[in-house]
Amino acid sequence: MSQLAKQVARRRTFAIISHPDAGKTTLTEKLLLYGGAIQLAGEVKARGERRRTRSDWMKVERERGISVSSSVMTYDYGDYTYNLLDTPGHEDFSEDTYRTLTAVDSAVMVLDAAKGIEGQTRKLFEVCRLRDVPIITFINKMDREALDPFTLLDDIEQTLQLEVTPGSWPVGMGADFRGCYEVLHDRLVLMQRGQRNRAKGGEIVTGIDSQGIDDALGDRAVKLRDEVEMARGLCPEFDRASYLEGNMTPVFFGSALNNFGVQALLEAIADLAPSPRPQAAESRMVEPTEEQVSGFVFKIQANMDPKHRDRLAFIRLCSGRFERGMKLRHQRTEKQINVHNAVLFLAQDRERAEEAFPGDIIGIPNHGNLHIGDTLSEKEELRFLGIPSFAPELLQRVRPEDPLRAKHLGRALLQLAEEGAAQIIKTRLGGNWIVGVAGALQFEVLADRIRTEYNIPVIFEGTSHHTALWLESDDAAALKKFVDSNEALVADDHQNDPVFLPRSAWHLQCMKDDYPDIRFLKTKEPSR
Ligand code: G4P
Repeated sequence: MSQLAKQVARRRTFAIISHPDAGKTTLTEKLLLYGGAIQLAGEVKARGERRRTRSDWMKVERERGISVSSSVMTYDYGDYTYNLLDTPGHEDFSEDTYRTLTAVDSAVMVLDAAKGIEGQTRKLFEVCRLRDVPIITFINKMDREALDPFTLLDDIEQTLQLEVTPGSWPVGMGADFRGCYEVLHDRLVLMQRGQRNRAKGGEIVTGIDSQGIDDALGDRAVKLRDEVEMARGLCPEFDRASYLEGNMTPVFFGSALNNFGVQALLEAIADLAPSPRPQAAESRMVEPTEEQVSGFVFKIQANMDPKHRDRLAFIRLCSGRFERGMKLRHQRTEKQINVHNAVLFLAQDRERAEEAFPGDIIGIPNHGNLHIGDTLSEKEELRFLGIPSFAPELLQRVRPEDPLRAKHLGRALLQLAEEGAAQIIKTRLGGNWIVGVAGALQFEVLADRIRTEYNIPVIFEGTSHHTALWLESDDAAALKKFVDSNEALVADDHQNDPVFLPRSAWHLQCMKDDYPDIRFLKTKEPSR
């Protein structure tokens, strides 16, 4: 195997999806603990707090105790390098969340054992399903009163229409929780209390029928054997192909707080989850083991330091071995970029990237020339697909408190749109700015950012528009006719692509009926 193929095979790039409070932060801390990335659990939150207090614009997030920004954490465990991409877990999530899921090869779905599938889990799951992202399920908080494990499996299967198979099986719950039988390894791992901050597994007994299990569990051994047999009877066996296609999820139980089940989860990610997958470009599939370096921008973080208008483009590498100082071709502008200052995201801190491999995320500081969806590659003209913009679910008009600052506002909005923080469109009649987002909280975050970063107090107000959809047609004359006849409801996005603003679902349907040659699109692939 080539060095490159070896590096690809040992990488796992994944995200955690969950409903708020299910334990994503705690689990992240424990995963990093195993990676030796942090000594003491609790540091992720503590560091997060420090970081948050540093930048003003995150005030809204801080006040609400949430984090809207995603981040990347890279750590090693065993023979593997894990890239964990954080997705915001609060109710109001942005396009960032969707896009982050375009940059991973698999996901871990964390559920609260007392609650099962909740609203946000479901929403995020749907995004994973759209992209066939394989999912490992971690049922957390088994140290508390929980739903019956059979009920939980049934809930996942019924609610998500996903085949389930037990990866592990819990012994007891709440104060009575003793550990898990790991189905795929045929071994019982006992939970040791008081091991919260140590990356060390509990006692292990091999073989479900062994005497060791009776010795360890006493009367409970019979119940465990019965339940495991029943679970095996009720659920299909683990089928890797089905998991990789996103049709089956192996389910693991544990308690992140008690550091239990975390090692089993890490091992499952190593053993079951895919290494970096081939990525679809416009012209062909790009294999990770190809020599030529390529990647795409899936996230932009701007103004991290309010004093400088700096931006960091997050790039998911798709192929080749990246080296510091390398020249990459920026496909949209056809310009060469000299990448000498890229950063890697090691859990403790950012580190300058000397080399990186497919599946890794590198950050390239820039002044706004890199946009979401842009492809970088060594030589070949490539354009990766599948990093779309989404039609916003909520629209509001925005204007400056001081009308003389309209131009400044326009510039600020353009930057925010390029960063992917929101959809920004300008109506053809009247030239009004309309901002589209996926969750109501984003309006507040944006208002705060525009005020603090650009020094422009703004007012958001309701509109009568139902949604904003991109317009497309193979027939340019038909498109022009539509636009001319409906000018009052046509706007342009920040890349000057035309957008239609229907007043209602019914209105949209009428337009579809009246103009069969026009496509009304909910997503847009990045412009060339
Ligand atoms: P989130 O990122 O998904 O929102 O969840 P987070 O990890 O912040 O966990 C939410 C709450 O659940 C926290 O309690 C956390 O300590 C608790 N928790 C996480 N995993 C477990 C577990 O395995 N067992 C039990 N019993 N609790 C768990 P909190 O009181 O809200 O916060 P904190 O004061 O503990 O930080």
